[in-house]
Amino acid sequence: MSTLTRDVVVVGAGPSGLSVAWKLKRAGYRVAVVEARDRVGGRTWTDTVEGAVLEIGGQWVSPDQTVLIGLLEELGLETFSRYRDGESVYLAPDGQRTRYTGEVFPVSERTAAEMDRLTRILDELAAEIGAEQPWAHPRARELDTISFHHWLRQQSDDEEACNCIGLFIAGGMLTKPAHAFSVLQAVLMSASAGSFSNLVDDTFILDKRVIGGMQQVSERMAAELGEDVILNAPVRTIRWTSDSVLVEADGVSVSGRRVVMAVPPNLYSRVSFDPPLPRRQHQMHQHQSLGLVIKVHAVYQTPFWRQDGLSGTGFGAAELVQEVYDNTNHQDPRGTLVGFVSDEKADRVFALSAEERRREILASLARYLGPQALEPVVYYESDWGSEEWTRGAYAASFDLGGLHRYGADQRAPVGPIHWSSSDLAAEGYQHVDGAVRIGQATAAALVDELGAPAHLPVANPVAPAGT
Ligand code: FDA
Repeated sequence: MSTLTRDVVVVGAGPSGLSVAWKLKRAGYRVAVVEARDRVGGRTWTDTVEGAVLEIGGQWVSPDQTVLIGLLEELGLETFSRYRDGESVYLAPDGQRTRYTGEVFPVSERTAAEMDRLTRILDELAAEIGAEQPWAHPRARELDTISFHHWLRQQSDDEEACNCIGLFIAGGMLTKPAHAFSVLQAVLMSASAGSFSNLVDDTFILDKRVIGGMQQVSERMAAELGEDVILNAPVRTIRWTSDSVLVEADGVSVSGRRVVMAVPPNLYSRVSFDPPLPRRQHQMHQHQSLGLVIKVHAVYQTPFWRQDGLSGTGFGAAELVQEVYDNTNHQDPRGTLVGFVSDEKADRVFALSAEERRREILASLARYLGPQALEPVVYYESDWGSEEWTRGAYAASFDLGGLHRYGADQRAPVGPIHWSSSDLAAEGYQHVDGAVRIGQATAAALVDELGAPAHLPVANPVAPAGT
């Protein structure tokens, strides 16, 4: 067991924790990042599966994600645009398949008008309430104590419109059924991307990808941190006083002045705190949980849908795979589709054998893009729910009523313990951009708190000029 001493100990080498440590080390502080897995990147993971490079976790970058875009530039990483030429496919609740262009689903005039109206209401709420402190708005309690599902049906009697609007936030983002989270949570999700309209515009929110993969963001920061990143070291216990911490992980202990918990909130209770965290945190952390989604990757010899004039984009709120996109890698002659199976639909297919699940999922892809979708050369399901050090996807949200009740306290430090992850972000909430934003903000707060790094040589104020 080795024992190290640092100014700040970071638990978790995802993009948030590494952003904290990278900024602090550049400012002259001594840091250690202690990571449970044998790799950095957390919920971003670029891996090669049967010869195909796949983004198993987070991948897309949107134009409003300016902090991530700035970091990509600083790290020398480039992006490429998602393929989106050609027609999209809409699968109606009765299974009818329609090809269309533009952002408006090919639904009846009435349903389209209702979707438009619901979008306007959500845009107005997002603009008025914002992402920074949704819990502080006068309507916070009212909007946090009704489920998104029931609220939509209070606003409109058009079931297809409610399901389509619900799809974007429920299956598409929070990956929980729309009855399991509040309108306020849906408004936060929308405001974090600038507006509900941005969130539902796939040409905006799924704009670009990183050439070579999103995990490189973490890998490049980790490379600069060198031996200060310690892998294979799950943190088990944090002992703390008002101004000191001792972080005990498998094989290593690190003492310091501050610790940053850069892990999703559903994992805080995997660590024993001594003394225990206050009652407020004990309660709050039980109301934050991750959603569940299967990210399906299917690689083909060619992007066959393009020859048919299709972009590869498809939506169907009632369909098993509720959304599908062309996810072909930069300059790759093969074609890759990515599809998503969310929450209760994921429960159902996870109960099947692997072969039956694959058959059902590929049949769903084929309903969008034709029978060639049935025969990929590589097929892979990202299953983050089975990952011990994540336990779901994409990120955490409060249960019904939790956001207005606890939101104001979720980022507040407890003594020397700070909290940093995309799950707690305002702008970029649930996204890599949010992970980096909150990481950089946490680093800035620690600089304020700790003052100048004590061990740095201080310029001698009385030294004669020229010496
Ligand atoms: P993250 O979870 O990445 O890192 C936390 C780290 O802490 C992990 O490495 C974990 O192993 C470690 N850890 C946990 N407990 C520990 C302990 N006790 N001791 C030590 N280490 C511990 N975002 C986006 O911007 N665009 C996208 O397209 C997508 N798509 C997407 C798809 C899928 C399938 C997933 C799962 C996620 C996304 N995301 C995304 C979300 C994005 O990946 C996510 O928001 C960030 O990776 C979160 O970064 P953090 O650093 O906050 O946590």
